[in-house]
Formats: sequence, C-alpha cells, structure tokens
Amino acid sequence: MKRTILITGGAGFIGSHLTRLFVTKYPDYKIVNLDKLTYAGNLENLKDIEKAPNYEFVKGDITDMGFIKDLFAKHQFDSVLHCAAESHVDRSITDPLAFVNTNVIGTVTLLQVAKDSWKDKMDGKIFYHISTDEVYGSLGEEGFFTEETKYDPRSPYSASKASSDHFVRAYHHTYKLPVKLSNCSNNYGPYHFPEKLIPLCIHNIINNKPLPIYGKGENVRDWLFVEDHVRAIDVIFHKGEIGETYNIGGHNEWTNIALVKELCKQMDSKLNRPAGTNEKLITYVTDRAGHDLRYAIDASRLRDELGWMPSLQFEEGLSRTIDWYLANTEWLQHVTSGNYQKYYEGMYAGR
Ligand code: NAD
Ligand code: DAU
Repeated sequence: MKRTILITGGAGFIGSHLTRLFVTKYPDYKIVNLDKLTYAGNLENLKDIEKAPNYEFVKGDITDMGFIKDLFAKHQFDSVLHCAAESHVDRSITDPLAFVNTNVIGTVTLLQVAKDSWKDKMDGKIFYHISTDEVYGSLGEEGFFTEETKYDPRSPYSASKASSDHFVRAYHHTYKLPVKLSNCSNNYGPYHFPEKLIPLCIHNIINNKPLPIYGKGENVRDWLFVEDHVRAIDVIFHKGEIGETYNIGGHNEWTNIALVKELCKQMDSKLNRPAGTNEKLITYVTDRAGHDLRYAIDASRLRDELGWMPSLQFEEGLSRTIDWYLANTEWLQHVTSGNYQKYYEGMYAGR
C-alpha cells in the first residue's frame, strides 16, 4: 500500500463522501475509518464500499488517548484526514461542552498521538485538519473571507473549531508536525443529516410539515456541493503545501429564504404539486441566538495555486440532492427514527 490513512468521522456527511472518494480512487491506499457513530454517524452512508479490500471501519472515540495510541501502533498511519466533529451550531448552543470535548480535546488527542508516532520521521507524513469558514465570524453585506481574515468565532461550535485550528497550527510551529488545513463554506448533498437546513426542509416538504425559517430568513450562506468539497480536499492533500491553509467555497451566496423558496419550487414540480403549494409551508420562527449574518469565501488561492473549481451550478446540485432524498426515503426514515443503529449491530455483531 502506498499510503495508510486514518479518516476520522468517516461515517458522517462529509466524511462518508471523502472516504468513498479515497477508497475508490486510490485502491493502493489503505483507508481506516474511525468513527464513534454518534447520532450523526451512519454506516449506511458507506454501504457501497464497506467490502472494499482497502477499507476498514473501526468504532471508537477520538478523545480516548489509549485507544488512539493503540490504533496508530497497529496501523502505522502515515496520514490523517480529520473530519470527526460535533458539527451542528444549534446543538452547540444547548450543549457547548460536548463541542469542546470532541472538537478541541479530540483534535489535540489526535495531534499528540500523531506527533509521538511520527517523531523519528516526519517526512512524508500529513495531518490534514478539515475546518469551517465559521471561524472567521460574520460578514456584513460586502467582502469575503480570505486565508488572512482574522479569526472571530461567535458560536460555541465555531469557537471550538477555531480552537482546534489554532492547536493544529501550534503543533506545526512547535513540533514541526506536517499539517494542512482547509476552511470550507456550507456543504449540501446526499447523506446530509436532516437537522441541517436543506435536508430538514426536504424532509418536511415530503411530509407536508412547516419549514422553520429563523428570524427574517435574510442570513446568507455560501453553498457548495459536498462532492466538490471532497475533491478539493483530495487536491490539497496531494498538492497543497505543508503548514498552509486553503479556503474552499462555492461563490454561491443565497439568503435562507431565497434558497428555501427555490427548494419549494423544485419540489412542487418533482412531487407533482401545484406551483406555490410548498411555499405555504414556510413558517418564520424565533431566530438562532447570535445568528451570524453572512458567510462568503474567497477561494481564489485554491483556484490559482492548485487549479480547483466548483463543478456544479447550485440549481443543478440542489436538483440532484432532492432526487437523491426522494429515491432514498428509507435512509431518511432510518436516520430520523434511529433505526440505523440496528444496521450497525447486525453488520458488526461480535467483531
Ligand atoms: P457530521 O456531524 O455529519 O459528521 C461528524 C462525524 O464525526 C459523525 O460520523 C460522528 O459520528 C463522528 N464523531 C463525532 N464525535 C466523534 C468522536 N468523539 N470520535 C469519533 N467520531 C466522532 O459532520 P459533517 O457535516 O460531515 O462535518 C465534518 C467536518 O467538516 C467537521 O469537522 C465540520 O466542522 C467540517 N465542516 C462541515 C461543513 C458542513 O457544511 N457540513 C462545512 C465546513 C466544514
Ligand atoms: O459554514 C459552514 C458550516 O455550515 C459548517 O461548519 C457547519 O458544520 C454546518 O452545520 C453549517 O452551519 P450553518 O449553521 O450555516 O448550517 P445550518 O444548516 O444549521 O443553517 C443554515 C442557515 O439556515 C443558517 O443561517 C440557519 C438557518 N436555519 C437553519 C435551520 C436548521 C433556519 O433558518 N432554519 C432551520 O431550521
């Protein structure tokens, strides 16, 4: 095997797309997917590749130092693609300590074990930390986040991710750990857990339930199709500079209300409902505490230095996403009922 890679959080939304890409594109890489299988982790996301000869799943917690040390000793990883995190802003508002634990302590645990395991030969090793544009705070109506934008996290989630980014850079500067980082804007696509805006609204439209819009729906997000995100990670992993950070974004800004109206329109047509039916489900609700107004990424460094560009127009990506959810109602039903735990027990009983 040319590389032995630890992917953390590979059973989550972005992690499952990343794992699929690396397992199928690089048959000469061994991929070990470590995931705690929290409510957000789902092995059904990886059904199509679970029997691939270069793939192995391990259930475990990134905050468990002894377990992580044993895993490194067993597999002799030369790279880490670190995706595992608590990822939902609303949950961070109700339970900030869970975010400190996984996102900060978990990241430092992985850094510490990687440093100790690689201390005799750092050459050729890569610790890639997957992060978010939310560390930069909130924009006004103008401007973009660049790699030089000062950190200004404003939710417990973004504060925990900012902290983890600082630790990753500290391990590079202090111990020469070979790190790479990327900070990406909002992702969407298949396997997105239906607590997040787009899959939540798709699920509710299917079931004729209200579509909760926080505040006035004027907040702006920059949406990127998840397969474009993991393609960018692939490029940065192989061609990006050690010690550097790359912003990833779609140049695709939508207010929440405009986005949800586009979703309603497309789903009227796909569900054979009269035009305007789904929009009647829109319901304005109390705003998220500390709700960031606008995120928008300047991804020109990634384009100019490494040649990456988003491949999909948003309307097309959204259409593909809706089609996937309509074709996978069983997946949606399992993740909303918690039944996917049964899948795990059946598949991995006694292992
Ligand atoms: P997700 O919530 O869908 O998945 C997270 C995964 O991590 C799950 O499989 C979960 O089981 C696992 N996990 C959680 N705690 C763990 C622990 N202690 N030990 C081991 N595994 C654990 O998240 P996502 O949306 O796929 O995000 C993945 C990464 O990308 C995160 O670091 C997030 O900050 C970052 N990110 C997400 C977005 C986005 O729009 N979703 C955008 C930019 C960056
Ligand atoms: O920017 C990258 C980030 O994008 C990632 O780091 C996070 O992990 C990811 O969850 C996402 O964060 P957001 O808070 O932007 O995503 P969410 O889907 O939760 O919300 C998108 C916007 O929609 C936001 O302005 C809040 C609003 N919203 C969300 C929900 C769940 C609503 O209006 N109603 C809702 O029910």
